[in-house]
Amino acid sequence: KKGNFEHFMQKEIHEQPDSLTMTMRGRLIRGEQKIKGVLLGGLKDHLKTIRRSRRIIFIGCGTSYNAALAARPIVEELSGVPVTMEIASDLIDRQGPIYREDTAIFVSQSGETADTLQALEYAKSNGALCVGITNTVGSAIARGTHCGVHINAGCEIGVASTKAYTSQIAVIIMLALALGDDSLSTQQRRNAIIDDLYNLPNKVRDVLKLDKDMKELAALLMEEQSLLVFGRGYNYATALECALKVKEVSLMHSEGILAGEMKHGPLALVDETLPIIVIATRDASSSKQQSVIQQLKARKGRLIVMCTEGDAESMCPDRTCRLIEVPQVQDCLQPIINIVPLQLLAYHLTVLRGFNVDQPRNLAKSVTTQ
Ligand code: UD1
Ligand code: BG6
Repeated sequence: KKGNFEHFMQKEIHEQPDSLTMTMRGRLIRGEQKIKGVLLGGLKDHLKTIRRSRRIIFIGCGTSYNAALAARPIVEELSGVPVTMEIASDLIDRQGPIYREDTAIFVSQSGETADTLQALEYAKSNGALCVGITNTVGSAIARGTHCGVHINAGCEIGVASTKAYTSQIAVIIMLALALGDDSLSTQQRRNAIIDDLYNLPNKVRDVLKLDKDMKELAALLMEEQSLLVFGRGYNYATALECALKVKEVSLMHSEGILAGEMKHGPLALVDETLPIIVIATRDASSSKQQSVIQQLKARKGRLIVMCTEGDAESMCPDRTCRLIEVPQVQDCLQPIINIVPLQLLAYHLTVLRGFNVDQPRNLAKSVTTQ
């Protein structure tokens, strides 16, 4: 079942052009007179209610939480509805306020995660509209929500989620497009995103060609104790998700850090030995990332910079950084491109360090107990 691949995680990383194609199949519309849109069959009767809700709350655990975080900015931008984020167990611990006027969106690959399910029961009993985004037809979350979207990424076997992550982000971006469908002022922006969604599988195919480079980078990093990952804006989630992948499979300590918080603590860790990945692809916050790079360099940080193809010179003029150059897509889609080389890095680090890639120590694919 692994075909030409040695591990399921590797197969699932390389499958992403196809899984994303499946996720978008029949859901993107390029109609007459350049009218473009999305059709999410499971949500079409509920879009008005979601648009009118007082708040959208994304709820999930692990990688599924990170996927919602990656897509949060575009949901805010296109819907105008305030969006908050909840880790399912934390919402339950706090019994945080949820109201009838809220839309609670549950993101879960398996659809069976105990904490997420409990948060669903809690939100339902508080009267919120409950929406599911899951990969598993007939799962508890698919059944228990009022409506939702199946991500159709295909069965995921590796415990560390990879293709489900990129498909979850793609679905939430399509949800944002559907919610913004009634606004003329965002039409151009939405059209540009839809055009790039069509091209996304090809761009993912391009970025998968970095496999060899990521293997080389993994060989350089394999003896390290720790790896920091700085991101912001659309790619804060990319930093968290890279760190989660690295720690869960390669068993190396790794921490994803919001770059805007660098001076409030993390900077103290920086010296000439600790490797640091900075995600600095082109978007509204890349000039801020450029200055983060300069400040880390001033402290002799060992930098690995992820930048847009052609930006190497401006992001690292003295050429002392190792670079990961990726193709550019619309800013909100960039997290889907950027995570792919980092998934490959986590994969190769694990193999080189001699650990079990598909079934990491102490972890389960589906956490059905609390
Ligand atoms: C559906 C069919 C698909 C078919 C397409 C044709 C299913 C599972 N999907 O896809 O095979 O090709 O119509 O138009 O039969 N739902 C929830 N919670 C969730 C996820 C989904 O309640 O977490 C509900 C949706 O609201 C919807 C149904 O499940 O009523 C199916 O969702 P989805 O598969 O996303 O719908 P379509 O893409 O329309
Ligand atoms: C487990 C998995 O911890 O549950 C992770 O190992 C996953 O990969 C997390 O992100 C949440 O699972 P789900 O199925 O709710 O997305």
